[in-house]
This record gives sequence, C-alpha cells and structure tokens, in this order.
Amino acid sequence: MKVTIFGTGYVGLVSGTCLADSGHQVMCMDVDADKISRLRQGQIPIYEPGLEAMVVENGKLGNLHFTSDAAEAVGFADLLFIAVGTPPDEDGSADLKYVLAVATEIGRLMDKNKTIVTKSTVPVGTSEKVRQAAQSQLDARGSSLQVSIASNPEFLKEGAAVNDFMKPDRIVVGTDSAQVRKQMVELYAPFNRNSDRMIVMDIRAAELTKYAANAMLATKISFMNEIANLAELLGADIEQVRHGIGSDPRIGYQFIYPGIGYGGSCFPKDVQALERTGREHGMQMSILQAVESVNNLQKQRLVDLIRQHYGNEINGKTFAIWGLSFKPKTDDMREAPSRVIMEALWQAGAIVQAYDPEAMQEVERLYGQRQDLRLVGTRDAALVGADALIICTEWQHFRAANFERLAETLSDKVIFDGRNVYDPDTVNEAGLTYYAIGRGASLHS
Ligand code: UDX
Repeated sequence: MKVTIFGTGYVGLVSGTCLADSGHQVMCMDVDADKISRLRQGQIPIYEPGLEAMVVENGKLGNLHFTSDAAEAVGFADLLFIAVGTPPDEDGSADLKYVLAVATEIGRLMDKNKTIVTKSTVPVGTSEKVRQAAQSQLDARGSSLQVSIASNPEFLKEGAAVNDFMKPDRIVVGTDSAQVRKQMVELYAPFNRNSDRMIVMDIRAAELTKYAANAMLATKISFMNEIANLAELLGADIEQVRHGIGSDPRIGYQFIYPGIGYGGSCFPKDVQALERTGREHGMQMSILQAVESVNNLQKQRLVDLIRQHYGNEINGKTFAIWGLSFKPKTDDMREAPSRVIMEALWQAGAIVQAYDPEAMQEVERLYGQRQDLRLVGTRDAALVGADALIICTEWQHFRAANFERLAETLSDKVIFDGRNVYDPDTVNEAGLTYYAIGRGASLHS
C-alpha cells in the first residue's frame, strides 16, 4: 500500500519507517526542509535504538521517501496519516493548530477521495474537526470529493518504539466507515499475523482510549509514589511491598516502580489534557488532579531528602548526578525529574557534575554553559571531587557499582537514589549513607 505520514517527529518517523520496513511504500512529509534533507541522507533527529539503520535501509530499498512538498505528499497516497505535534498551550489543553493545518492543506490539495488518519494524541472530537477542516476546503472550491477519517492512536514507548510498532499489544482503530476499516486491516496485516491485535471501535472511543491508557499508567505511578512516601514514614520498605502487591495478577508488576516521578512527552501532557477535557465538560477529574500534584511533589522528593540530610547547608557542595534523561534509553529531557533537581541545587548554590549516556547534548542545549554545571563523559568522571551522588535515571550500567570506591571518593559518603537501584544493606555496609524512595528502615547508615 501507499501511505503518507505528515510529521517526522518521534511518532511519524517511527511509524513511517516501520510501515516501510514491512514493504509498504511510505512518504514522510515535514515542513522543515532541513530536517527532510538530513533524513534523506539517513540522519535522524532523535535517538531511538534501531531506527537510524532502518531509515537508511528502507531508503536504499526504495520504500521510504521524504519530502517537504505538501502537494507531492498529498498526491502520493490515498491513506494520509497526521502525526504532527500537539504541544500543550498555557492552560494545558492540546494545541491543535498543526493538526488542523495539515487537514486544511490536504483538503486544499486533494484531487481524489482520501482517508485522513489521526495518529497524534488529540482530544476527543478532534478527528471530526479534521474532517471538517479538509471538507471545508473542498466545499470552498465546489468539489464533490469526500474525506474519510479514522483515529489510530500510537502506544509507542521511547527507547522501545520500533519493537512496540513491529510487535504491538494492540492496534486501536476508530472509524465509522467499512472501507476505512478494510484499508487499516490491510495496512497493519504485516504486524498482525499471529493473533488479531486490531481493536476496531468508534472514533471517539479510540481517541479516549489513548488518554485513558496513559492516565491509568500515570495513576499507577503516582499511587505507588504516594504509598512509598507513606512507607518511609512508617519504616516499611516499599520494594517489599511492591513485590507483595505485584504478585496479585489483578495488580501486576508493571508500572508500580516508585521513583522521582514520571516525565517525558506523554504522561504529563496527556494527564493535563484529559483533566482539561473533563473541566470543559463540567466535570472535575479529581483522580487526575491528584495524580498530577503527587507527581509534581515527587519530583521534589530527592531535593527534600538532600535538604534534610544537609540541614539546608548545600551551598558550595558538588553533587555527582548519574542519569539525566526522563528514563533510560532515550536522550529526551522533556519534563525530566533531573531538571527539577538540578535547578533546585543551583538555586541553593550547589555545583552539579553530571553524566548521562545519551542526554548530554540535550542538557547543553537546554542550559547552555554555566559555571555550576559540569557535564562529564563517564560515570566515574562525575564522581571526581564530588561530595555526594544522586541517581536520577536507572540506566543499566549504573546498576552494578563499587561501593567501597564510592565511599572513598564521595567526601560526604552519601547516595541519594531516586530509582531504588541498590540494595540498602550493601550500600550501608560500605560505609555510605543511602537515601532512596520509600525504603523506610533501610535508610540509616
Ligand atoms: C508512555 C507510554 O508508556 C506509551 O504507551 C505512550 O505511547 C507514550 O507514553 P514513554 O513516555 O516513552 O511512554 O515512557 P514510559 O516508559 O511509559 O515511562 C514514563 C515515565 O514513567 C518515565 O519517567 C518513567 O521513569 C516513569 N515510570 C514508569 C515510573 O516512575 N515507574 C514505573 O513503574 C514506570
């Protein structure tokens, strides 16, 4: 099949490349001509394991094409995906200007019937607005062409996006048309061979499914973080509690890891947007409000522990930080808890000496050159001259550490672990004080 994807951001590029990899002919369109010319040379603007090689390979095979010409993009296929950004505007609702601009452009340029599939995460009712935006262009030029619509939300995790696309848990398709349903079944057939993962539903239900899924996951995390904070007060170890509750299959082990809060491009934005949608319909989303406020507090959790440990005497201290991205296997710093922590430390006059395997360039872009930020190339280099160690992201190669050496190197002999990576007894035995999330009695050295 032939498909065009509008938007070569994270979702658009992963989706387009994976569709091309299965043998479809894919055109990726972006208004950013520089980005398109880099993509044509096989240079991808994001870090996602496995993606760059697939872009290069499918380019060579002739399955994956790039353009910044809207007419070429619209003419290329009858199935047109919108995967452009929906940044939150000031009040937290998703800004639809890019989505609707693409729909308008499609309506203006199309010369035969087309299907527009919305892949961007958009509030309930947006697909209908997409249809209207395209249709109004057709009406304006007296055309009798028809636009069909579908909602096909993505469930890609950063760092595992290629695998999530190739081996989906589910393929959600919202449509009101039997013909569109047929198109989508054919499109996704290569990814849907062993058992049928396609769930076809109403358009509005598909739009809400995406938000409900992310809001539920965010709720699990905030719930666990709140219980972790209580466990700490009670002298109970949340890691033992986690095992205890996860063994119930109704609860499950996934997404109940306590930490310093969720970040990234999806959860914070989607929780806010859903809360806003509720408000617009006269409904207060009490759970979501709590999820968000617990998360905001949780990002401060290590800062509170650091203040408590140092009795507010942080000025002039040097903190080594391991891991800055919002989670491992990505360079994404959007809403990363490390930002809240670094900014609080700087505010208090401390120096940050940080290492992250992927996010350093992004951190430099965000904060520029500053005296109180030293970005170093290895985890060991981050420790040189440091008073304490903070772990913000649980990258795999932080999991085994030489605690005796850490005890010798860190002048204040203290670790603040925002991801519960270590066994408290082992750390304490090396003579280090260990602060983690919700580990109660194990805290003391
Ligand atoms: C998420 C959804 O998982 C994905 O389905 C959706 O399409 C986009 O949003 P992503 O933002 O890439 O994906 O990251 P994810 O792996 O879900 O983690 C989100 C955040 O939650 C991270 O900050 C992570 O550290 C945190 N988290 C996750 C926890 O704090 N505890 C957990 O148990 C799980």
